[in-house]
Amino acid sequence: MPNDATMLSRILTLEVARVTEAAAVACHDLIGRGDEKEADQAAVDAMRRALNNLMIQGTVVIGEGERDEAPMLFIGEKVGTGEGPKVDIALDPLEGTTLCAKAMPNSIATIAVAEGGSLLHAPDVYMEKIAVGPGLPPGIVDLDADPIENIHALAKAKNVDPKDITACILDRPRHAEIIEKVRSTGASIRLISDGDVAGVIHTTDASTGIDLYLGVGGAPEGVLAAAALRCIGGQMQGRLVFRNDEERGRAERIGITDLSRKYDMQEMASGDVMFAATGVTDGSMLRGVRKIGLGFETETVVMRSSTGTVRWIRAVHQDGKKFHY
Ligand code: FBP
Repeated sequence: MPNDATMLSRILTLEVARVTEAAAVACHDLIGRGDEKEADQAAVDAMRRALNNLMIQGTVVIGEGERDEAPMLFIGEKVGTGEGPKVDIALDPLEGTTLCAKAMPNSIATIAVAEGGSLLHAPDVYMEKIAVGPGLPPGIVDLDADPIENIHALAKAKNVDPKDITACILDRPRHAEIIEKVRSTGASIRLISDGDVAGVIHTTDASTGIDLYLGVGGAPEGVLAAAALRCIGGQMQGRLVFRNDEERGRAERIGITDLSRKYDMQEMASGDVMFAATGVTDGSMLRGVRKIGLGFETETVVMRSSTGTVRWIRAVHQDGKKFHY
């Protein structure tokens, strides 16, 4: 017989799916309309409403920005009914705003919920990231190793030729050297225009064909991806990247003193973590939200680190007008 805490955590796992479903549905009419801000705002409003219905004492630790720059879901905002477990929340109501505005694949609504104090409070700066899927020897790739070394080590561990390895990398000029090095090994590269939470998670699913995620993306997205990998399995490391003193100040204000620290997955998301993502646009992992009759259909993945269970939820929301939280 599960104890109360386990029951609560089980129930919450399904409740968080409602939160990302709400954000994805709110984006539906804004897919492909070219307005990133409006789509993001719709997702933020819906996610906040849904979160405030949950029986939690939640604190947003990864959100839409610092209090003075984000009116809603800012870092430190308290969410939930104020009863129930104390939890930390990392969220990105619309991860891949441009992907949604341009109706391109892999934009998602996503959230991670963990015991209070167990998610890295990452400032809104960049993070250098490396990730691989489950079933590999610990430490097989490393942020401090040369990309060429990482590709060779991974190929050896998978018992394949480097040319059979595919790395996923954000298509940015800053990655020119990494891209050149990876290509010099014969490995293939899946360049993505945005959406590196999905990019990292793709390493855990053989059907995506992606073996390794490499490169610099958002630090908040790094923590969300680490939370997902904690649940589903895999390895990830991250290191904050600062472009100026203002960015270093953001880290210092939230208590980060070692600015060059290399974080492993456990340090970014420890304790009992749950993660959910709902597809906004169609992607390799999730189908995007669809209109059906008066309602909507959504596809969501929810996972919990304590059991490693990964659930795929296809939901039909019969009447869009009743989809209020
Ligand atoms: P948004 O949803 O905030 O637009 O982020 C999309 C994204 O591609 C992230 O997935 C990624 O971590 C980050 O932007 C990369 O930042 P930049 O576009 O500045 O290279």
